[in-house]
Amino acid sequence: MPSRGAAGSGTGSGGSGSGRSTPVALVTGCSAGGIGHALCLFLRSRGCRVFGTVRRGGAAPELEEAGVTVVGGIDVAREADCAAAVAAVLEAAGRLDILVNNAGVVALGPSCEVPMDVVRRTFEANVFGLLQMCQAAHRPMVAQGGGKIINIASLTGLQPVPLRGIYSSTKAAVVRLSDALRIELRPLGVQVACVCPGFINTRARDNARSNCAPPTGGLWGGWLAALERTMAARLARAVPVDAYAAQLGEVILRERLPRVWIGRCAGLEWLPRWLPAPLRDRALAKALAINELEPELRANAAELAASWPESSKKGS
Ligand SMILES: NC(=O)c1ccc[n+]([C@@H]2O[C@H](COP(=O)([O-])OP(=O)(O)OC[C@H]3O[C@@H](n4cnc5c(N)ncnc54)[C@H](OP(=O)(O)O)[C@@H]3O)[C@@H](O)[C@H]2O)c1
Repeated sequence: MPSRGAAGSGTGSGGSGSGRSTPVALVTGCSAGGIGHALCLFLRSRGCRVFGTVRRGGAAPELEEAGVTVVGGIDVAREADCAAAVAAVLEAAGRLDILVNNAGVVALGPSCEVPMDVVRRTFEANVFGLLQMCQAAHRPMVAQGGGKIINIASLTGLQPVPLRGIYSSTKAAVVRLSDALRIELRPLGVQVACVCPGFINTRARDNARSNCAPPTGGLWGGWLAALERTMAARLARAVPVDAYAAQLGEVILRERLPRVWIGRCAGLEWLPRWLPAPLRDRALAKALAINELEPELRANAAELAASWPESSKKGS
């Protein structure tokens, strides 16, 4: 069951699209250091009444100080928790104008080698959790005459990235799901937007390690090390989380939500989508510095073949 901290209340206007002066917003995954946390503070500073969910107690003391209501003990992978989070908002505020589905985890590693329990956990949080929140929130929004749902996907949902295939595929699912939700909910007064950030400076890299032990070795060992180096080098260019949350918050408070919004952010994945797929794949491999490692990959394959039972080899 969720627990609640000090109730926040807002007084300003924010253009929730529901015609009320104080929009009520619920943001999932708001522990300190992340986009959800920074977005709660931004929306609060703009006069919204804001509720932010966290999984663990004590994960966001700054939010309560700012007047954000922290709804604790919410794991979006659990359907009952999603329903409880929405119920907590309705009980305290009587309505829900803005739902931001921000909670998510990163899974790293070659798609064929990521343990299936990690794959399932990642889909549970990023896709099923997000959908469960939409299922819990849409009826109150329709009944009150409108609302906004903002789903946080990723640039990797638009452009898949090697060694992040599992994460990319969860985010691609969020992009498509948001498209369907937008069409289904628009006639009922609920707007849906999909947000695809690039590289934002948050705790996501550390959190990825707790979702899944950093993979090493295996067939793609060299690629993993190269990607790690490239990402570390790019961290310096990552967009500060507060700046990104402020850009995003402004978009959320507009009267009309865009279909897909990316914002100003650094992203390796941001290659022109009009490029033919083979060219795009090659450009991405170059940007990630994994292109020159193909000989090493083939050497790993040869080593595997040498140790493989003769009877199961092709043509034997
Ligand atoms: N940072 C980027 O560059 C970037 C780029 C593209 C997309 N995104 C997306 O932006 C969103 C926010 O990420 P972030 O960068 O701010 O990372 P973050 O700092 O790791 O924040 C993720 C938040 O989601 C929560 N969470 C994870 N699994 C959950 C679950 N099953 N139930 C409830 N809460 C859960 C985490 O809670 P705990 O603290 O309890 O783990 C944390 O509060 C994610 O959807 C992420 O995929 C981020």
